[in-house]
Amino acid sequence: MTQGELFLGLDLGTTSTKALLIDASGALIAQATADHPVSYPQAGWSEQDPDDWWRSSIAATQAVLDRTGPNAATRVAAIGLSGQMHGLVALDAAGAVLRPCILWNDSRSAEICDRWMREPGLPEFLRTTGNRIFPGFQAPKLQWMREHEPERFSATKHVLLPKDWLRYRLSGEMMSEPSDASGTGVFDCASRSWSTALLTTLGFARALFPDLAESPVHSSTLSATAARALGLRAGIGIAGGAGDQAAGAVGSGIVEEGTVSCVIGTSGVLFAPSSQWRPTPHGELHAFCHAVPAKWHLMGVVLSAGGSLRWFRDHLASDSITEGHQRGLDSYDVLAERAASSSPGARGLVFLPYLTGERCPIPDAHMRGGFLGLDVMHSRADIARAVFEGITFALAGNIAMLRSLGVRVDRVRLSGGGARSAYWRQLCADAFAAEIALLETDAGAAMGAAILAAVGAGAFPSVEAACHATVRERELIAPSEGASELIDARAKFDDATRLVQRLSH
Ligand code: XUL
Repeated sequence: MTQGELFLGLDLGTTSTKALLIDASGALIAQATADHPVSYPQAGWSEQDPDDWWRSSIAATQAVLDRTGPNAATRVAAIGLSGQMHGLVALDAAGAVLRPCILWNDSRSAEICDRWMREPGLPEFLRTTGNRIFPGFQAPKLQWMREHEPERFSATKHVLLPKDWLRYRLSGEMMSEPSDASGTGVFDCASRSWSTALLTTLGFARALFPDLAESPVHSSTLSATAARALGLRAGIGIAGGAGDQAAGAVGSGIVEEGTVSCVIGTSGVLFAPSSQWRPTPHGELHAFCHAVPAKWHLMGVVLSAGGSLRWFRDHLASDSITEGHQRGLDSYDVLAERAASSSPGARGLVFLPYLTGERCPIPDAHMRGGFLGLDVMHSRADIARAVFEGITFALAGNIAMLRSLGVRVDRVRLSGGGARSAYWRQLCADAFAAEIALLETDAGAAMGAAILAAVGAGAFPSVEAACHATVRERELIAPSEGASELIDARAKFDDATRLVQRLSH
């Protein structure tokens, strides 16, 4: 290990690429982002031009090198990649991109998934991959190409996930790794290999999909052309990296059983590492490979978490924005203050946050939300409280599912916009019946990608050791006494969920 070595993490997000440098002790040196556009050519479609990813990757890398200092470029010893999961990049025999990438949040293949759920059927997907199929996943998009763009489909000789296309551009090599491959819909997560059985059933050639190496392994090297474009040294190693959720978990030190992460942004994602392969009985949670060799994770995605709160603020409580301006507060803090002045259970009012359907633990794209139990006595404080509680109970449903599988949830590291509110943090501790921890730095998936590169270079003996050395907690919140009042409120929320599910079909 040479003194002064740096490791570059590149996270190819939906709206931007983030480049981040750490040193060999894992300390964060600098970070920078560069945007790329998304296009929505039709309702439910969402696409990106991989060349835009390339441009933003170059811009972000150059910016982070500039911020670091004159000899930064020569000190970069390896690269780790992370990226938005599930997307389809289709390439011809010469490696040229055949159409814009179809992204993770594109729903054009919903009808194909409904069909696949009938034939070959959910039990077949669970048996071969351990997971249900979702329209966001890569394989149904490939089927969509077969049915709607037959010429492009016939020309397709390789399919890559977004960050693996970036690797191809960086190295000329087509490789993937288990954490991101888990989100294609045709990956056998138990054996960490492509499911040849399912590929045969669906009629896709194994040769379409890249070979695999584990996430920390430097499975390819930076080509001379790419090195010139990025301003780095040719020949440095590129680690397998990970899908953004698994890379983010590494960046937050979520690599051992007992500690789970909860990221509350527009969606809410719970991520629980597991040293055993433990799929859910009906695919209620995603059961994917972790970026840590020989480990897996269970993941619960609540589609409208912060998204429900934003909707509530914008459409039913916009006075919180005006009040926030007047008092020099964030509008969400005004809402949290109102919620805190109501009582646990919001005096009987229930809010269901299924504004865009739900993914986990109730995979139901058609279910919708609502307020139940409105009474003339309810104040705006009760309504705000019901919204915070409803979102938190939806997250808690995923924790209950984890515990029912025997996964320990002792401590939850909370991040994202939802972690900024002290009121919400305490509500999470109470509803999850777990300690909530905040992190000193929350650099996300790009940090995880850089850590994986450093582990592959031998800077740390394992991903777990790297996380112990780099990730620090700054605050702990314990469940409060009397949190039991929330148990009744949650039972009511679960009943109300079953009711709207019946009404939505
Ligand atoms: C994970 C998921 C998102 C995307 C985009 O299942 O859908 O995290 O990877 O960030």
